[in-house]
Amino acid sequence: MNTPLRPTHAVIQLSQLRRNVEAIRAKVSPARVLVMLKANAYGHGIDGVAPYIEPFVDAIGVAVLDEGVHLRELGIKKPVLVAGGTLPEHVPYYLEHDLTLTISSAEVLQAAEAASQAAGKRLKAHLKIDTGMERAGVRWYEAEAFLEQSLLCKHVEIEGIYTHFANSETLEPEGLEHKPGFSYASTQLQRFNEVLAFYPRRGLPPPPLRHTANSAAILNMPESYFDMVRPGVMFYGVYPDDEALRSVAIAPALTWKSAVVYSKQTLPGNPVSYGSLWVSDRPVRTITIPCGYADGYFRRMTNQPKVLVNGKKYQQVGRICMDQCMVNLEDDQAGIGDEVILLGKAANGECIRAEDLAVWAGTNSYEVMTNISARVPRVFEIEEGG
Ligand SMILES: Cc1ncc(COP(=O)(O)O)c(C=O)c1O
Repeated sequence: MNTPLRPTHAVIQLSQLRRNVEAIRAKVSPARVLVMLKANAYGHGIDGVAPYIEPFVDAIGVAVLDEGVHLRELGIKKPVLVAGGTLPEHVPYYLEHDLTLTISSAEVLQAAEAASQAAGKRLKAHLKIDTGMERAGVRWYEAEAFLEQSLLCKHVEIEGIYTHFANSETLEPEGLEHKPGFSYASTQLQRFNEVLAFYPRRGLPPPPLRHTANSAAILNMPESYFDMVRPGVMFYGVYPDDEALRSVAIAPALTWKSAVVYSKQTLPGNPVSYGSLWVSDRPVRTITIPCGYADGYFRRMTNQPKVLVNGKKYQQVGRICMDQCMVNLEDDQAGIGDEVILLGKAANGECIRAEDLAVWAGTNSYEVMTNISARVPRVFEIEEGG
């Protein structure tokens, strides 16, 4: 679709994202699917991902107001939930751009009601209950007064109520695994259900969209689906961690590519790159790749990553520079322009996973993907037939 002017770029297979959504929908149906497109669609490039995926999802989630406004500027019409915290003075922007506000405090509820009344428009909002994440939201043990207050609001439209799990990845200790309930997440779920019991006590229906499930909960806890689920990392084809059940078949959509731009023989005793952190004890062929930490290829991975050169795994060597890094081809050869894959699958099936990069960088796959920097062009592909 678009041709990058540098060898280092990320190819996003949009059709794979669609298949991931379809697999999630099949698992959670009849619950609705809101996909999290925050942080530049987890590094995949929101400008390409959002318009393509919109017809296949029920709603879109982002973290911050600017991301929501950007989606509207892209022409996205589906509901957009801004999940992060908002200052009361920013509430009118939600009305202006038809974004769904997360209300995490009595103060923002008041601001939302006032802004709706002033504008003569109903601001859509979801109430956020903190059931144990201690990040944002009204704590479950203080929720009753908050819900009472929400009933008094006649202008703001309370369309949803939700919570977020702190720990839905981790299985129960030995012997209890795969039971419904993943320790802390089950405690959180129980607290959420207790909060929801407010509505039948008052003889009222709950807000139409009750939701809790992130990727790990979708995989591990069907009892957490309620009316809608909020997949993030699994929409991009990556399991949230090694422990999460593989109960939905997904596949990654992103391939981070580069090319050989320099190739030479490196002699024993000649250290490679800044800080002289790697030196060979025999003559080897080393290549240079135009990708470095300013592209999101973390400096702290130095000397650890493997890369695929023409489909074969080789070791990255020497300090990863801002814009370049080197790879040891041992006794093999590669020509200028030959394909390098930093993340993703080669045509022969060899693969470097986001999880691998996460291990080398001492982080998780989320940080790996969201740090592929703006300098790396995103190339969006759609398979024939969609
Ligand atoms: C409120 C909320 N819901 C859902 C998600 C998606 O989480 P995951 O990527 O683990 O599916 C996130 C991401 O952190 C989030 O903040």
